[in-house]
Amino acid sequence: MPGWIIPPPREPVKSREAFRRERQEKVARLNRRGYLRSERIKAALLKVPREDFIPFFYRDYAYEEVPLPLPGEEATISCPHSYPLFYEPLGLDRGHRFLEVGLGSGYGAALAREIVGEHGLVVSMEIDPLTLAFAGDNLKKTGYRDIVLVQGDGGLGYPDRAPYDRICMTAACKKIPPPLLDQLKTGGRLIAPVKEDGVQNLVLVEKTPEGTVREVICQVLYLSLRGRYGA
Ligand SMILES: C[S@@+](CC[C@H](N)C(=O)[O-])C[C@H]1O[C@@H](n2cnc3c(N)ncnc32)[C@H](O)[C@@H]1O
Repeated sequence: MPGWIIPPPREPVKSREAFRRERQEKVARLNRRGYLRSERIKAALLKVPREDFIPFFYRDYAYEEVPLPLPGEEATISCPHSYPLFYEPLGLDRGHRFLEVGLGSGYGAALAREIVGEHGLVVSMEIDPLTLAFAGDNLKKTGYRDIVLVQGDGGLGYPDRAPYDRICMTAACKKIPPPLLDQLKTGGRLIAPVKEDGVQNLVLVEKTPEGTVREVICQVLYLSLRGRYGA
């Protein structure tokens, strides 16, 4: 993972209570630093036990601001702050039909499931079968059984459940894959790390009746998208 220093694997020692306290402190810090506005996103971050989505020997680092390795080729769970960083500008909310490209650990999908609620839909795609199996186990153990998990190239989207209100890409592309824009509702939003001019910009796209409107949120550092639209 270029640009990040990954802590060494070690036997976990932290208790459930210690993780619960770390989770509360993390949410309070994200709030103070201006990452959080939506009460639903805040409630989801307080509820989902991030430590249950982390490989055993990295579990104690669950609430540190570092991406951690996952089973599979080049898969990571993103830093804790990156979830509100993506979901706040996306305006992810109750009732949305949400597509995630890059399931990773399953943590982002679990958060989204809490945010969209019972009338919403979460579909998440993962290209790597080992990573998908890891996430599937994590989601089952934590009780998230109604997320649609799809193995395949997320750059192609998942037309079976389209259209989507919100789409989130968690791997960096050179350009937003056209199939994802096709599967986005008019009025819908998509967020993605896009490689341009030697950096990665976190790009928010809104689909309007007149076309797409684009905004750069900040610079980020993500692994490259694989598959047809891989960078
Ligand atoms: C930063 S990680 C995802 C983090 C994840 N959202 C989480 O909460 O753990 C990016 C993921 O995208 C996956 N990926 C890369 N290219 C993909 C593609 N074309 N389709 C689907 N998944 C892809 C990688 O295998 C990796 O698991």
